[in-house]
Amino acid sequence: MSGLTLGVSTSAYQTEGAVDEDGRGVSIWDRFAHTPGKVPAGDHGDVACDHYHRWPQDLDIVRDLGVHAYRFSISWPRIFPTGFESKPNEPGLDFYERMVDGILERGIVPWVTLYHWDLPQPVQDVGGWAHRTSVSAFERLIDAVTRRLGDRVTHYNTINEPWCAAILGYEAGQHAPGVTDRVQALQAAHHLLLAHGRAVPIVRANSPGARVGMVVNPVQAYAASPSPQDADAVDRFHAWFNQWFIDPLAGRGYPERIVEEERAAGHWPGEGDPDWLLPGDLSTISVPCDFLGVNYYSRSIQRGPEEGNLPRVIEEPADDARTDIGWEVYPDGLYDLVSQLHRDYRFPSLAITECGAAYDTEPDADGRVRDARRVDYLSTHIQAAERAREDGVPLEAFFVWSLLDNFEWNEGYARRFGIVHVDFDTQQRTLKDSALWLKNRLRS
Ligand code: FCB
Repeated sequence: MSGLTLGVSTSAYQTEGAVDEDGRGVSIWDRFAHTPGKVPAGDHGDVACDHYHRWPQDLDIVRDLGVHAYRFSISWPRIFPTGFESKPNEPGLDFYERMVDGILERGIVPWVTLYHWDLPQPVQDVGGWAHRTSVSAFERLIDAVTRRLGDRVTHYNTINEPWCAAILGYEAGQHAPGVTDRVQALQAAHHLLLAHGRAVPIVRANSPGARVGMVVNPVQAYAASPSPQDADAVDRFHAWFNQWFIDPLAGRGYPERIVEEERAAGHWPGEGDPDWLLPGDLSTISVPCDFLGVNYYSRSIQRGPEEGNLPRVIEEPADDARTDIGWEVYPDGLYDLVSQLHRDYRFPSLAITECGAAYDTEPDADGRVRDARRVDYLSTHIQAAERAREDGVPLEAFFVWSLLDNFEWNEGYARRFGIVHVDFDTQQRTLKDSALWLKNRLRS
């Protein structure tokens, strides 16, 4: 596998279930999923994959696959049920400590994500990520978790995909907390970045020697034609989708184009607004990290002039080039994306923290799950990652999304990303052909 760490990835709300156990509080995803009309079929994460109880068997699967690393996330309301307690909830910390020990006992490296979207609802009730109090609440979460796990965990992701958390959550309203307000989305994006910047020194103090980075979901855009308008649309998309979140990490502040456009549109909060950019924030955000985590699924094709700020796929690829969630299969985009990130920013290291495909293949009569298209997706994307490495991109890891079929946010259970099939009635796990392929590949 050419030195690339190969892992599998999950997140807490998507897999754990057990939402009322051991003192766990309510998160924005509990509230959102239980709001009628937000998630198809009324799906929610109350039980999900029951990973909270079945993690030992699930980790046995991970070990038997022979992968090197397991990336999972900490459920914030298990640690601070309201977000504002003076002391952490010990049973929540105990749970993750047992899980980390179980991972290590099986010879697997734990990669801990500290925030994968399950903000305690009471923190949202006072403004959530749009409000600065979220950042100090997050600092206390990081301190509690890394004090407990810091002697054993060597890899931390601070925040998963701030673009999704801020834009889908606070502007598009498609994700929890379901807010539709551009100004709040800007504030949320800023506070998520700030939370990352504040978390890093806490992780370093409590877990000396651990590697720490943030996970972004940049999308490589291509022009629909060689016209100057399309080239400009690509630039604008790049500023909106990628540079807005990565430039500040690299010490470059917010891209001028965004600042100007948002000011002109009247969205840029006023100078001195306590829930906005304060002196020192940008230097906090640009704290040096060990790697940048990149989640890659697809690309975007742009045609100008662009309207609105959300991504827009202009040319629809043929059906067979799309996964069941409608995303184009384009492995060269992974190569192009990490190559450009390396050229533009020179982070010490890059990691593909998620990459995978939604194919809703069910077991055949003989019980086998013949997900040949996922095998193809994974093999071509891993090859693209290896090619980038050979060409000098310091790519250290590739995590498949996901170990298990799980609660796919606002798509519910209909979208299956797992290499392991989950029967949500019986909780039976079945290794799909893609899992068997991966195991074979790692063995050889
Ligand atoms: C990413 C999320 C992950 C999963 C995949 C399909 O945006 O980080 O939890 O839902 O998409």
